[in-house]
Amino acid sequence: MASAQWPCLILALFSVLVASGFPRSHARLLEKRSLLEGEVDGIEVYSTKISCKVTSRFAHNVVTTRAVNRADTAKEVSFDVELPKTAFITNFTLTIDGVTYPGNVKEKEVAKKQYEKAVSQGKTAGLVKASGRKLEKFTVSVNVAAGSKITFELTYEELLKRHKGKYEMYLKVQPKQLVKHFEIEADIFEPQGISTLDAEASFITNDLLGSALTKSFSGKKGHVSFKPSLDQQRSCPTCKDSLLNGDFTITYDVNRESPANVQIVNGYFVHFFAPQGLPTVPKSVVFVIDISGSMHGRKMEQTKDALLKILDDVKEEDYLNFILFSGDVTTWKDNLVQATPENIQEARTFVRNIQDQGMTNINDGLLRGISMLNKAWEEHSVPERSTSIVIMLTDGDANVGESRPAKIQENVRNAIGGKFPLYNLGFGNNLNYNFLESMALENHGLARRIYEDSDANLQLQGFYEEVANPLLTSVEVAYPENAILDLTKNTYQHFYDGSEIVVAGRLADKDMNNFKADVKGHGAINDLTFTEEVDMMEMEKALQEQDYIFGNYIERLWAYLTIEQLLEKRKNALGDEKENLTAQALDLSLKYHFVTPLTSMVVTKPEDNENQMDIANKPGEASYQSPLTPYYYVDGDPHFIIQVPEKDDAICFNIDEEPGTVLRLIEDPITGFTVNGQIIGDKRGNPNSETRKTYFGKLGIANAQMDFWIEVTTEKITLWNAAAQSTFSWLDTVTVTQDGLSLTINRKKNIIVTFGDGVTFVVVLHQVWKKHPVHQDFLGFYVVDSHRMSAQTHGLLGQFFHPFDFKVSDIHSGSDPTKPHATMVVKNHRLTVTRGSQKDYRKDVSIGTKVDCWFVHNNGQGLIDGVHGDYIVPNLL
Ligand SMILES: *[C@@H]1O[C@H](CO)[C@@H](O)[C@H](O)[C@H]1NC(C)=O
Ligand SMILES: *[C@@H]1O[C@H](CO)[C@@H](O)[C@H](O)[C@H]1NC(C)=O
Repeated sequence: MASAQWPCLILALFSVLVASGFPRSHARLLEKRSLLEGEVDGIEVYSTKISCKVTSRFAHNVVTTRAVNRADTAKEVSFDVELPKTAFITNFTLTIDGVTYPGNVKEKEVAKKQYEKAVSQGKTAGLVKASGRKLEKFTVSVNVAAGSKITFELTYEELLKRHKGKYEMYLKVQPKQLVKHFEIEADIFEPQGISTLDAEASFITNDLLGSALTKSFSGKKGHVSFKPSLDQQRSCPTCKDSLLNGDFTITYDVNRESPANVQIVNGYFVHFFAPQGLPTVPKSVVFVIDISGSMHGRKMEQTKDALLKILDDVKEEDYLNFILFSGDVTTWKDNLVQATPENIQEARTFVRNIQDQGMTNINDGLLRGISMLNKAWEEHSVPERSTSIVIMLTDGDANVGESRPAKIQENVRNAIGGKFPLYNLGFGNNLNYNFLESMALENHGLARRIYEDSDANLQLQGFYEEVANPLLTSVEVAYPENAILDLTKNTYQHFYDGSEIVVAGRLADKDMNNFKADVKGHGAINDLTFTEEVDMMEMEKALQEQDYIFGNYIERLWAYLTIEQLLEKRKNALGDEKENLTAQALDLSLKYHFVTPLTSMVVTKPEDNENQMDIANKPGEASYQSPLTPYYYVDGDPHFIIQVPEKDDAICFNIDEEPGTVLRLIEDPITGFTVNGQIIGDKRGNPNSETRKTYFGKLGIANAQMDFWIEVTTEKITLWNAAAQSTFSWLDTVTVTQDGLSLTINRKKNIIVTFGDGVTFVVVLHQVWKKHPVHQDFLGFYVVDSHRMSAQTHGLLGQFFHPFDFKVSDIHSGSDPTKPHATMVVKNHRLTVTRGSQKDYRKDVSIGTKVDCWFVHNNGQGLIDGVHGDYIVPNLL
């Protein structure tokens, strides 16, 4: 019975809103509630256990949920876990009535066939989705027969990083119903000894938790347990819904008597370094702040508020300046000035008077700030023993001056020349975060997203606090020559107070007796070298607490750190180097069972290697940018639909043109993609543009750089690659892969065209009865992934790949009460729009899914750039 359930294992996609941050409210009521306690719609989740073992900052977490279907028909059971973005899933198993379906980590390409199969059957579009600020959501739904029991078990691992003096572990708690046995159990083992430990839940005060929460620590061990009884879970004494809904956070720190700690197990070592009590190195900070028109309103107020708070914290020995950029660049002072009380007072006045205006010239803003720092160094106008940082804040893409991301990056890289770090803060979602991140990483800094929310000012301030206190600069961790292999990153431009440097590697000789490491850095007053010597015998004694050591944890910690650093380096690598980094990261991900952006978790039915399902796909870098994947398509009487995830809404428009006309849908000069579509009419050849129906009958998809083109008609599919031509019919089911291109034809349904990781199109075939007097076959075109396309992409669909904003107001009823009218402000135009709906046929070509949208009249006038005639091109390819 249970084994026959296999085909029903479906992979569900959850839409999660990111901008709202962590849902903290426990007011969400369950829609369906059964009379029986702890049972919702016949499904009883009788046990949920989160078990965490942390050894030397390396966390190994197992989430186990057990449920039974008490209904008399088969029911769907969902298992949702939110885990930190920085974690890697390492295992997932499903047990139905005692039969276990184990998970395996496979290379993404290998798992892709099943994935595409599932996509074409409308079952999945990915399973791990970005969710909230720090979390990703893992979701599986399984159809369970009446009376059957099911157990889900998910394992993930992560290296906890030290921020502002503590390690923090987030556990998202959201059982959605009362659970008889609900338990969080955390065991922490830290060889340096634990100095503080705390645990709290966002959904209830610790007082009210009473006996449900216990926390203790002593010596090297810490323990946290949270075990609310059924009554303690109720949102009110007589309620049947759970108040457990929010974050459960465990924070701790370790003793810092010694600046460093080295641990060695089975030939792998890890070296933690966080000296205390050093004076802060004076710094010169240049704030490069976007004051363009889009910052108007709350964002500007929050930025000013944060800058004022930051000014309160600036130390007198520091130097600073403000560079404001919009279309132009203005500065507070011509040069960096010292943070004397008078100057700080003046700076406050300056900040209070900042006004938003105009466009976004990131390039000139950054270059001005960088040249100011360079000049200060050349002229020795900042202290010799000081350090410099550039903090840039923007809420949008460059749109004036030099606006090509690659060129800005090059300019900035050349100007900084590796001398100081650049930190990029991306405010909100309407920006190219990948660009900000890539630019920061190649200049030894990092990017941070500032979420548009009521606490944005605190996020900005919090970031400043992290980098406010450099204790050392030019930090290098050195080991005796030839003693160490496979070392992770061992040079850092800064060591900031409250953080920690972690280096891991492998011993060349497993049986060496002692181990020596030097950490060199420049302090505020002098240069320092910290030497750490380890006696192997003592080490063994110290790590004897076998209960707390999960297997080869240092080796796994090393692998985790290595993969993380390879993936980061890969973001800025090109060509062979990128391939090499990818290959190395993939090898390690497979060897150590980590679901990274290069691998997938596949669940296999026992003794059936053919029947696999892709169960966990970590989103690639770009997926973090916008957690709800936007999509764009054109289908039916050419109806264009633009889904805007930030708004949880869609815009649609129609283009009415003569049959035979070819329209440009996508054109990207950077990646070389073009997609054009040719319009056909119906069989009557109705010349009246008011009443006639038109469709796309032919599509051309081409990439000049990759030297291929594909022509799709309602009859056949022709692929040209270099000079070779292949032709397929809609009756074929076939997958063609070559040079990063994959083309899958699903007989009489659709075609999925994928280019590497980041561009996927689906063409849907609509077939009508051959002898229908009026209608004929036509095509629909869907862009399901466009994140690798450049910001210069244009065309009727392509122009919407960049994030854009619209506002709808004044909704009022029209002649048809089901189709209200409204005013839409978009791209600086005020338009009258009408509520309507279109169908999305990606999943089911015969029925389709309804998509509500705001219809823009007159061939999309005011919404599309220019007029629709601008998009007419002479031929398909
Ligand atoms: C995954 O979890 C299952 C169940 O706990 C276990 O039997 C299996 O060994 C684990 N696999 C790996 C690779 O750790
Ligand atoms: C990557 O390059 C390094 C040296 O350039 C080489 O030793 C290594 O084998 C390469 N790795 C892979 C997986 O190709």
